[in-house]
Amino acid sequence: MKDVLSSNWPHCMLQEIYQQPEVVAKCLERYGGVGIRDWQARIGEQESEIHILACGSSRHAGLVAQYWLEQLAGIPTRVRSASEFQEAPWPLTPNTLTIAVTQSGETADTLAALRLEKVRRAQSGHIQQSSWLGITNQPGSTLTQEVDHTLLTLAGSEIGVAATKTFTAQLVVFFCLTLDLAVQRRAIIEENLSQLLVALRQVPALMQQVLEQEKTIQDLAQQLVAAEHCILLGRGVNRAIALEGALKLKETTYLHAEGYSGGEFLHGPIALLDARVPVVTIVPNDSSSEVMLATVEKAKAHGSPAIGLVSQNLAAQTTSLFDSQIILPDLDYRLSPLLMVIPLQLLAYHIAVLRGLDVDRPRNITKTLA
Ligand code: M6R
Repeated sequence: MKDVLSSNWPHCMLQEIYQQPEVVAKCLERYGGVGIRDWQARIGEQESEIHILACGSSRHAGLVAQYWLEQLAGIPTRVRSASEFQEAPWPLTPNTLTIAVTQSGETADTLAALRLEKVRRAQSGHIQQSSWLGITNQPGSTLTQEVDHTLLTLAGSEIGVAATKTFTAQLVVFFCLTLDLAVQRRAIIEENLSQLLVALRQVPALMQQVLEQEKTIQDLAQQLVAAEHCILLGRGVNRAIALEGALKLKETTYLHAEGYSGGEFLHGPIALLDARVPVVTIVPNDSSSEVMLATVEKAKAHGSPAIGLVSQNLAAQTTSLFDSQIILPDLDYRLSPLLMVIPLQLLAYHIAVLRGLDVDRPRNITKTLA
């Protein structure tokens, strides 16, 4: 096991990827129980809808959270890219919890969207006010001064431009919030809740097991180092992980990567495939696994190299299908994004290293777009 505190890391991004089990454990210690807790400050108790504003990886965390909030807590949830909000704000709804998510707490688009929403609500006298929640990694940031409540992601400072540990910390905070809301609203049965809590507490150890596969991922990076395009597919709760994996690849390796929902992919983007376009498919053990594997068959028929991120209990049946597969420990599929994202972070990291790129400071972008 690597010593995450040592300073002998070739890049901050790699160290930050390895810090994830520790960060998740810390977030679970703070937020991982269920019931009215000091951190919760009755967030979302009255609200019937949730609106999430964010950019980049923080928006992807919001998309995973949308799945959880709707499917586990039964709360209608919208997610909008904060950078699009000025042009297309959503219709105002009563009893709404508005959540702004930004690891830095300073992203100009996210703050501007939040401010616009506050003005719109203030001007719409007849509509009940929203409550305002911020999720950020930066105590004292501008965001924290502009919301009623803040949930800190406790990831410690993240230097690499690519969000890694702050992303998984955002997911954990969102998941704990979802469970609390689900319990408050009696939207979840006891048995389901206990299963999820048991699974949640296993996450740090299982993340560690995923990290132990770095060598296999490094070999895969070698196979993909010359690729110019890459497609990533996920469904349901992992659709946003396909988007996040594609973002990691784009910003660290400059490879043209796109993430799609496995279903939507068949409605046009599949025309992109040929032997030069590898397809990475996320296959947790859930009700969509069969349909995902059928999509992989189709991709292979067009000559694409097929790479799978596959749950352990499906691995025997998928070995002959995939050209390469990374096997992930079994975990309740609803929590699988927390594991599935790690091989994608490592893949992006290793391709960037093999390409001789400045992993921590990719060209054209800065850590915070303030
Ligand atoms: O600080 P924020 O979370 O608001 O940043 C939002 C995006 O700029 C950020 O997630 C960006 O996409 C990252 N470089 C992704 O790795």
